[in-house]
Order: sequence, then structure tokens, then C-alpha cells
Amino acid sequence: MRDYIEKVLVTSEDIQAKAKELGEKITNDYKEKDLVLICILKGGVFFLTDLAKHIELPVTIDFMAVSSYGKSAESSGVVKIIKDLDESIKGKDILIVEDIIDTGLTLSYLVENLKSREPNSVKICTLLDKPEKRKANVEVDYIGFVIPDKFVVGYGLDFAGKYRNAPFVSILKEEYYK
Ligand code: IMP
Ligand code: MG
Repeated sequence: MRDYIEKVLVTSEDIQAKAKELGEKITNDYKEKDLVLICILKGGVFFLTDLAKHIELPVTIDFMAVSSYGKSAESSGVVKIIKDLDESIKGKDILIVEDIIDTGLTLSYLVENLKSREPNSVKICTLLDKPEKRKANVEVDYIGFVIPDKFVVGYGLDFAGKYRNAPFVSILKEEYYK
């Protein structure tokens, strides 16, 4: 069933421990703030739910969907908002929760877009960081794991919509996307 796996890169236990660690840090950093967690669909939803359980603050949660790779494993650089936020973020403290940052093109666009809506602050929390192919300069405030430039799936991350539902992150065998 999981014959697509080249190698498990981040185990479920590693992810859970990291969600707790980052959640506690965010709890400390956002005391007295009006924190809104913005989850980027669909990949960010697994991390959002685990992370949010460790944030002991009265946060609100909103969702955004942007265009991704389609069926290719390379970033297109084209960002399109498919689903926008439900609520205004004016005056709020925004924490974007993402599954992975690769070229940075998606997040740099999103940060600029959200900043134009006059929030009090905008920060980024990503489970995975793949810094090797970065094209846009984005400041990432909370990082779970830095990983090499491999195409990974699981725990929200997909290839052509599949493999999101594993509780761990693994490298996808090349024959599955070539
Ligand atoms: P960026 O704009 O290149 O930083 O790409 C960000 C988006 O690309 C992420 O939100 C993911 O949806 C997707 N992505 C980047 N790398 C991977 C990967 O290794 N596996 C699955 N999706 C990825
Ligand atoms: Mg994606």
C-alpha cells in the first residue's frame, strides 16, 4: 500500500514532538495578542490541527486556498487565490501555517497580499523548509524541520492530490513522478 515510499524522512513521533514544541513557543510569543491562524489548504491542514492543540490561547482559525503545482513536481511561480479568508484580518496578529516552503514564491506573494489588509503583524510557521531552491526572500519565523531538496509527501503533502493522509513525511520514489 505504501510502496511509493523511498524513505521516511520525518516520523509521526518527530512531528508530534515538534508540534508541541512550536505550539508552546507560539503560546509564549502571542500572549495578549489577537492571534489568527491562517491555514493554507489543503496541505497545511494536518499541521494546523496538531499545532493548534498546543497553543493555549483563544485563537481563531481561517483558511485560504491557493493554486499549487497541479500534477508537476516543480513550482510554477504562479499564485492564484482559489479560496479567500472568511473574516477581515485588520488589526489582528496573523500566523500563516504551511506544510512546506520551497521556492518561497507562494508565501512571499501571500505575505504581501495579507499585509495589504492592514493586520497588526504577519508571521509564518512551516512544518518543513527546503531552502536549496529558494527564489523569493521570505522570513520564516517558526520552522519544524529543514529538509534536503527532495520531493516529499505525507502529513498533508501531496503529489497530484495523493499521499496526503500518511502520518509521516517521506520521500516519493522517483518513478512515481517522473
Ligand atoms: P513554493 O512556492 O515553491 O515555496 O511552494 C510551496 C508549495 O509547493 C507548498 O505549499 C506545497 O504545496 C508545494 N510543495 C513544495 N515542495 C513540495 C514537496 O516536496 N512535496 C509536495 N508539495 C510540495
Ligand atoms: Mg500542495
